[in-house]
Amino acid sequence: MKKHLVKFFILINLICLTSFALAQDVKGETDMDTLKPKILIAYYSYSGNTRAVAEAIRQETGGVLFEIKSNHAYPESYRDMTKQAQEEIKAGFRPVLTGQVDNMGQYDVVFIGSPNWWGTITPHISSFLAQYDLNGKTVVPFITHGGGGVQNTVRDLSVQCKGCKVSEKAWVGYGNETEGVRDWIKAVKILP
Ligand SMILES: Cc1cc2nc3c(=O)[nH]c(=O)nc-3n(C[C@H](O)[C@H](O)[C@H](O)COP(=O)(O)O)c2cc1C
Repeated sequence: MKKHLVKFFILINLICLTSFALAQDVKGETDMDTLKPKILIAYYSYSGNTRAVAEAIRQETGGVLFEIKSNHAYPESYRDMTKQAQEEIKAGFRPVLTGQVDNMGQYDVVFIGSPNWWGTITPHISSFLAQYDLNGKTVVPFITHGGGGVQNTVRDLSVQCKGCKVSEKAWVGYGNETEGVRDWIKAVKILP
């Protein structure tokens, strides 16, 4: 009988120790999770370059991708398309967006990606910035271009992003280049 009692107490001890160790482990993971910001990667891409950078950011951060889309159409011909885009930018056109970010309030950091169109962000990005309340959020711009560089893109995005903390370290890359995205993410210092 005594033997059984000893065995019983050893078993109880083992159960208690295991539960304690498991609880510590879970707690460790939870602590890491609370340190990690919730990240959204919102972008507009006409021909795929900005999408490629958005995907690279997703791979590095584990953030949620959101493609900014509209039913607004452009002509097939590149020349006509760029002409229409130029006229629309001059006129301050804001296309109606399709799709919705699911609960924007949950995100701490929002990467916003735009191609450089005529030296500025695309009208779709302006619509996005007007539609969502990004007040208090850290916003990290990423811009792709065809040789002109940043021009007024980041400045215009910052002006239209009311109450945002726009990172000074925007990504500005030629075409669909993604080499260096990893180092850039480290430099932006958003991950613990
Ligand atoms: C309407 C239009 C205007 C553009 N204007 C510029 C410009 O002013 N400066 C520049 O460097 N590139 C310009 N580009 C090139 C794009 O910024 C570049 O190809 C970009 O990477 C395209 O991104 P996407 O493939 O995600 O649409 C323009 C492209 C388009 C379609």
